Formats: sequence, structure tokens, C-alpha cells
Amino acid sequence: MLSTMATCNSHGQDSSYFLGWEEYEKNPYHELDNPNGIIQMGLAENQLSFDLLESWIENNPNSSGFTAESSCSFKEIALFQDYHGLPAFKNALVDFMSEIRENKVVFNPKNLVLTAGATSANETLMFCLADPGDAFLLPTPYYPGFDRDLKWRTGAEIVPIHCSSSNGFRITKSALEDAYQEAQKKNLKVKGVLVTNPSNPLGTSLSLNELNLLVNFITSKNLHLISDEIYSGTVFSSPGFISIMEVLKNIDLVNTDVGKHVHVVYSLSKDLGLPGFRIGAIYSNDDAVVSAATKMSSFGLISSQTQYLLSQILSDKKFTKHYLTENRRRLKQRHEMLEKALLKTGVRCLKGNAGLFSWVDMRCLLSEQTFEGEMELWKKIVYEVGLNISPGSSCHCDEPGWFRVCFANMSKETLTLAMQRLSSFVDSTVKKTNRRHNKLAVGGNSRKSKSLPKWVFSLSFTTRNRKVGEERSLVETDD
Ligand SMILES: Cc1ncc(COP(=O)(O)O)c(C=O)c1O
Repeated sequence: MLSTMATCNSHGQDSSYFLGWEEYEKNPYHELDNPNGIIQMGLAENQLSFDLLESWIENNPNSSGFTAESSCSFKEIALFQDYHGLPAFKNALVDFMSEIRENKVVFNPKNLVLTAGATSANETLMFCLADPGDAFLLPTPYYPGFDRDLKWRTGAEIVPIHCSSSNGFRITKSALEDAYQEAQKKNLKVKGVLVTNPSNPLGTSLSLNELNLLVNFITSKNLHLISDEIYSGTVFSSPGFISIMEVLKNIDLVNTDVGKHVHVVYSLSKDLGLPGFRIGAIYSNDDAVVSAATKMSSFGLISSQTQYLLSQILSDKKFTKHYLTENRRRLKQRHEMLEKALLKTGVRCLKGNAGLFSWVDMRCLLSEQTFEGEMELWKKIVYEVGLNISPGSSCHCDEPGWFRVCFANMSKETLTLAMQRLSSFVDSTVKKTNRRHNKLAVGGNSRKSKSLPKWVFSLSFTTRNRKVGEERSLVETDD
């Protein structure tokens, strides 16, 4: 009795990414009420600097628009319904976006379209740029929500740009060309490329080389480029963040046809840690896209009270400067804490410089180097270890054994506990593997024991040496 759209499964709700959340909801960790519950490490939420926002609100009690002292009356805000958005908010938001980019680029509020989060921004851009059946190329691994946001209601298709651990999952010219060919083989019309910069789930920002490659690629093929820069304010160490808008400016392409084909998506869900407020935006140099997206934004506007509140927070330059610096410092600290704890356990991460998560290499813990092996490990980590992390397959990673582990949505104490749980799990896995190995050796099958993967030896080596304080990776990577 329902429509095809309502019943089709391209929403992706059955992905392990969302299933992990469901398992967490059934048994959520709480230090007092449920100390053995599942710790949520599959949610890219930034709670590290929430206290800064709370104190701003406390110091500015009239910022809600609900008190007699507010600069704008309750009635004015409640009745406001222009889908172009509050001018004061748009001005403040573009200034904030420039500040994140160290004022190397200036954004014109006329080119900004407000949307209910980046989710709505990405879908709206798809509606503007692609007809049903048209394709966008996306580097793998990518944010699992894109299957829902880009494909579900629009009918657009995603074709993967296959990236691999051999070069740290960087985008290459041949990977772009291969994806384009793959789409053509499937008779899909390619309309553009979509990247997240910095990347979710990799936690890395795109290099200038990759950005130039992308500009050259869309120029040669006459394509659009969407740059989802939702994590732009989370870059906490070098190399820094380069926005696609900065690249266009530096090569004088902003006001050209190529410049008009480039669109930036932004949101305050990550940088300010306000996903519940649903504050997103599209920035485009193409007036036709701005106009179409503005009309479509009727389906996902930001409430005027939220716009009013944020226009005041973001106009407080002293606050935004302090917030951005302090938030980066805290993210860096937390990221280091996670990486060090993992390394002690013997597990390595991709070198990251941004985001609210690390891209963790757990190939050494797989019983077999397959996606079945990855699922088996994931289930153990969720149900036995009590950690909800996101398997790489849910992010369309081509190589089994990678997991996204979030670190900014919990307290230091919870992160410490999570790492203790993981450490015990790794220890018991090592013991089991060693017992199996010894049995094989005792059984006299020395040829078989020789054929055990390299990491088994590395794993037992690390565990032994950990006692004397040595930190060595378990992972014998091929990259
Ligand atoms: C790359 C990326 N784009 C978009 C979104 C959606 O963000 P929002 O909460 O602003 O809709 C997310 C959320 O995790 C994301 O990681």
C-alpha cells in the first residue's frame, strides 16, 4: 500500500553503521546505571567544547529572543518566514566560514542557501544537479549517510572512486578515470564528483595535489564538484585545511564556468557541535543553483529562532576565535589519547589531522581477511567488548579490517574504559591465536605454522614487550 520510495531499501537503514546504533540504544553504557553497557564510538558528535557554548549562553541570557531585553522581539522571530533566511545570520555564518579558512577566502551571503543541516544541503544539491539515474563519483571510504542523502529520494546513483591503504586512501588520477569509465560501462551519465574535506571517515584533509587533480578532472570532463566541508573547523594538526574555494581563488577560476560548477556544503553540526539545531548551508558561485536550491530549501528550513540565536553567537568574534582555537586543541589532545591507547594495544591508525574519529586498522584481528571476517570481528566488538564502532564496509571501504572509531562524543574516563576493554580483547585474541599456533607446532605441522600470517608473530611480540613498556604496532601492513 506504500509508495516505491517508502519501501525501497536505498535508505541504507540496514547497514551495520545504523545497526550498531540500534544495538547501542538497546544497551547504552552509563557509568552508574549500566557500567557494562555498550560504549557509543560510532557517533561523530563533538561534545568536547560544549561547555564553551553553555557559558556563552549563560553570559548572554537575552540571546534566545524570548526576553524583553532581546534585540529582536519574540513576535518578530515567531512570524519571520522568509526562506532566504535572516540576513544577520547569513552574514555571521559566511564570516565564520571565512574565519575557519583563515580569511583566505571571502564568502558572499547572496550565494549562500540555508538548509536543515548538511544532510539537507547534500540532497538539495543532488536535486539541483542530477536527474534520476545520473551519477556522482565518490572516493571510498565514504560517510555511510551518503547512500541515504544522495540516492534515496533523488534517484541519483553513486559510483565509487576506489582508494586504497597503499597510498593512505589518497585520490589519484587513475582512480578518478577508472570510476568515470565504470559509470560509463553501467550507462550512467556522470554529473559530478563529491568529496568530503576533511574526510569522514578517514580524518584527513585533502592535499593541494588532490584538490588540483579534482579541479583538472571536472574541467576536462565538464562536471560539477561538491565539496562537503562540514569538518573544516576540526583540523587540529598539520597539514592544515585547504578549501576548494581557496584553490579556485588562487588559480583565478572563481568567476569562470569551472568556478560555477563547484559547490560547498557546510553545517554547524560538527564544528560547533550543534547537530540538533539543524544548521546547514550550500555555497555556490552559480546563481541558477542558488536560486533553485533556495526554492527547494522550503522543505528543510532552519527555524528563525535558531538563526537568531546563532547570529548572535557567531557575531561575537572574541568568542568564535577562542572557540575555534580551544576546540582544535581539545580535539588534538583527545585524538592523541585514542591513538596512543590503541598503539599500546598494538593497533595502528591512519595518520589523521582532522575530524571527530580515527580510521583504525584492525586487519591484524581478523580471523580471515574478508568482509565476513570483518563482520565477525565487528559483532565481537559490539556484543563481547561492548564498543559500537563502524566497520569499514559500512563506509564502502574496499579492504576488510578498517574501522571508524569516534572519540569526541564521550568523557575522557569513558574513552579510557573503552580502550581498557579493547586491550583485554586484543590480549585474549592473541592468547587464543598463540594457543592455536602452539597446538599446530606441537602437532609437528611446522609447515602449517610457517604459513600463519605475519601479524600473528608481530601480535605476540608486542604483547610480550608491552609489559616492559615498549609500544609496537601489531600490524604488519602491506602499505
Ligand atoms: C560528511 C558528512 N556530511 C554530512 C553529514 C550530515 O550532517 P548534518 O548533521 O549537518 O545533517 C555528516 C554527519 O555525520 C557528515 O559526516
